[in-house]
Amino acid sequence: MKTLLQIRSSIYSDGGQSSRLADRFVAQWRKANLGGQVIVRDLAREPVPHIDAARFGAFVAKPEQRTAEQLDVVAYSDALIEELERADVIVLAVPMYNFGIPSTLKAYFDHVARAGVTFKYTDKGPVGLLTGKKAYVFAARGGRYAGTPLDSQTPYLRAFLGFVGIADVEFVYAEGLAISEASRNKALDEAHAQIADLIEPELEAA
Ligand SMILES: Cc1cc2nc3c(=O)[nH]c(=O)nc-3n(C[C@H](O)[C@H](O)[C@H](O)COP(=O)(O)O)c2cc1C
Repeated sequence: MKTLLQIRSSIYSDGGQSSRLADRFVAQWRKANLGGQVIVRDLAREPVPHIDAARFGAFVAKPEQRTAEQLDVVAYSDALIEELERADVIVLAVPMYNFGIPSTLKAYFDHVARAGVTFKYTDKGPVGLLTGKKAYVFAARGGRYAGTPLDSQTPYLRAFLGFVGIADVEFVYAEGLAISEASRNKALDEAHAQIADLIEPELEAA
């Protein structure tokens, strides 16, 4: 049975538009994957600390030389990574905040990008170790940016996820949510239709 990891990064937790789109996808995924397991990581409810020199120092310290405090830091990061390793499907709910991804999501990424654990350096460059997974990104934005240079999120997320080995990434956008009620309704209708299209093949196969 498959496992889905759902990561929320809206400041509104499950009330965010990005969270609600992801919830909609996950509810349909459950129907197509009866018995499948869903793990929710809500970065508003349980924020990951910012990376700092002490935390990064713990990651790169030799395992046998880690202090008790460093072992705790590494155990926390390992637990986040274990969730990712267990997941066949990763659902990311990502609002746009001030032209970028939420800082909570960046802090999370800073704890799961670990040399020798989620990626490794080789003669041919870095190689991601979280392979065989599919990711879906539900991107909610007040304005409209997809396909323009102001969409910093799409290339960044593709780069980061690809770096750790997750190359199969599908984006669903709900844009123009703050422009007008009509724009918002249209964006949500289109996103809902895209979600139905994404899950239909799985429902048919179930
Ligand atoms: C702190 C903050 C910053 C925002 N910055 C942007 C922005 O730079 N561009 C944009 O299009 N919308 C911006 N918005 C609007 C959000 O993208 C929009 O409300 C979206 O629905 C947020 O997703 P959420 O409901 O899942 O939190 C911002 C909203 C907040 C709260």
